Amino acid sequence: MVVLLMGPPGCGKGTQAKLLVEKHGFSHISTGDLIRAEAYSQSDRARDLRETIDQGNLVSDEIILDLVSEKLSNPQKAYLCDGFPRTLSQVYGLDTVLCNKSMRISAVVHFHIPDDLIIERLSGRLSCVQCKAIYNLLYNPPTNNLICDACGANLLQRSDDEPAAIRKRLTLHHEKSAPILAVYEGRGILHTISGAPSPEAVFGALEKILKNTH
Ligand code: AP5
Ligand code: MG
Repeated sequence: MVVLLMGPPGCGKGTQAKLLVEKHGFSHISTGDLIRAEAYSQSDRARDLRETIDQGNLVSDEIILDLVSEKLSNPQKAYLCDGFPRTLSQVYGLDTVLCNKSMRISAVVHFHIPDDLIIERLSGRLSCVQCKAIYNLLYNPPTNNLICDACGANLLQRSDDEPAAIRKRLTLHHEKSAPILAVYEGRGILHTISGAPSPEAVFGALEKILKNTH
């Protein structure tokens, strides 16, 4: 089973994915996490990737599709794609990858949320450098300043959570998402829910959708 979580920056894709992994055993494929891991590695393309992310631009479809294809390795598993696909070319590339592996998309969940809430959430976000736990200084602060409650590693603000990069990410999202959502709506697998309520309430809405998904 493959489920896609889509929505603008800061809508809660990563927060909900973590809950789905813990409570429903999904394997989480976050293209953002994969790209950040490579961007801070010794890879030849690390510097270019860092620059792309920091400016809030999209990484090339080819790189993204290669990373995702490698991760979608076991047709028996339940996969959760977070932040992918983000272009029509990724939509059709994913179709090919899944077809070759006899897999299919069971549901696409799109979180909608007003832009002002996004800015507020992203300005207060902290992420664990080790276990990737996500915190928020306003809504979900860590117990100890800048230390992860879950694993004790350091918490950092993401380099793309500064105003210019947030604006760019939002603009790109608004530009690219409509045709993608139209494709999945046409296939009858799109579910749109609000990402604005509490994480628990959003998770409840997600569980309802997944209960009827196979
Ligand atoms: P990526 O890492 O995917 O970033 P994004 O899509 O911009 O989304 P975020 O991770 O910022 O937000 P989120 O929805 O996960 O929210 P979160 O749960 O953290 O991508 C980063 C970059 O990588 C891209 O810009 C691009 O360069 C590249 N990239 C990635 N995928 C790509 C692709 N497919 N193609 C090309 N390039 C790609 O929550 C945010 C904050 O809000 C947190 O502080 C959290 O605690 C808080 N929060 C969450 N839910 C709630 C709630 N319900 N109530 C109150 N607070 C909440
Ligand atoms: Mg995320």
